[in-house]
Amino acid sequence: MVKVTFVSNNGTRREVHVAEGETAREAALFNDVPGIDGDCGGACACATCHVHVDQAWIDKVGRLEEGGAEAELLQFAEGANEYSRLACQIPIKPTLEGLVLHVPEQQY
Ligand code: FES
Repeated sequence: MVKVTFVSNNGTRREVHVAEGETAREAALFNDVPGIDGDCGGACACATCHVHVDQAWIDKVGRLEEGGAEAELLQFAEGANEYSRLACQIPIKPTLEGLVLHVPEQQY
């Protein structure tokens, strides 16, 4: 299991444990993390799983691929910035142990 921490807009931290191979979206949904809905089932089609990757983790997670489907979707998401990713497009792996993700305030 890999530890992932979700930080809400008021600073509340929720630490969850997720199996390798699941996504950050699943980590949030399985643990009732507020603000992550994941409405499209993880198909990269809704942006309701938008997160800001903590600055310290963005290089390990990887930035948005320019011109890719995820970037296309996120360009219309409220609060999108250079640390934005879709949680459904972040597969959890052991190298992400301790990952910190922030839930954008626009999602509450
Ligand atoms: S769950 Fe819909 S884009 Fe991630």
